[in-house]
Amino acid sequence: MTSHLSFTEIIREKCNSINWENCAEAYQEARDVLEIVSIPSNLKILLEEFVSNQRLKEKSKIFNLFSKLVLLDGQDYKWKLRLHVFDRQVLEAHHHHASFCACVLQGSYSHFLFGPNSSLDARRLSFPLRPLFIHNHEPGSFYFIDHDMVHATMIEKPTVTLMLQAGSERSSFEIYDLETGNRRIRMTNPDISVTDSQEPGESRMSENELSAIRERLESDGLI
Ligand SMILES: [Fe+2]
Repeated sequence: MTSHLSFTEIIREKCNSINWENCAEAYQEARDVLEIVSIPSNLKILLEEFVSNQRLKEKSKIFNLFSKLVLLDGQDYKWKLRLHVFDRQVLEAHHHHASFCACVLQGSYSHFLFGPNSSLDARRLSFPLRPLFIHNHEPGSFYFIDHDMVHATMIEKPTVTLMLQAGSERSSFEIYDLETGNRRIRMTNPDISVTDSQEPGESRMSENELSAIRERLESDGLI
């Protein structure tokens, strides 16, 4: 039987079918999605649809750590497929409101893992840092990370990643400033993230900023 599903519908079905309760299986299934989407001609299809989707475009944001595009999302925020562009080094660690699988498309970063936030030894977050695990991610590498794991990513060059995020597990998460030791709480209410800035340096992405990201992805051969 011939499938009449579009590329985007196929990706959407794959994302809808992931059972995030089984982390090992979810990792393989999410990785499968990210491998397909990372093919430049496929990423270009999603990006072109994204720029004609005002609802998704309004979720695009600039954070102090990276710029975010939500390329696709599931019903009731069950999952989100995101593209991240890291241009700056920020000395902070955090955990997330949702587990996710990520892959590096371009650039690289060192990845520091400090342990679960629910039983964090905060002394590990002051310099000299004492993470429990350090790993380097290069283009083509994948990982799954639980929402409770506190981590820090230190880019070595401008870096582009794809992320497939599970549904939200909590209404807030914590961010740790590695220089001052200060801890702050960030809310995960999806309505807040669409309309308001919670932190200095955070803003909605302008059309010009979005165009610059598209041009950059194109000139670097990622789409
Ligand atoms: Fe993170």
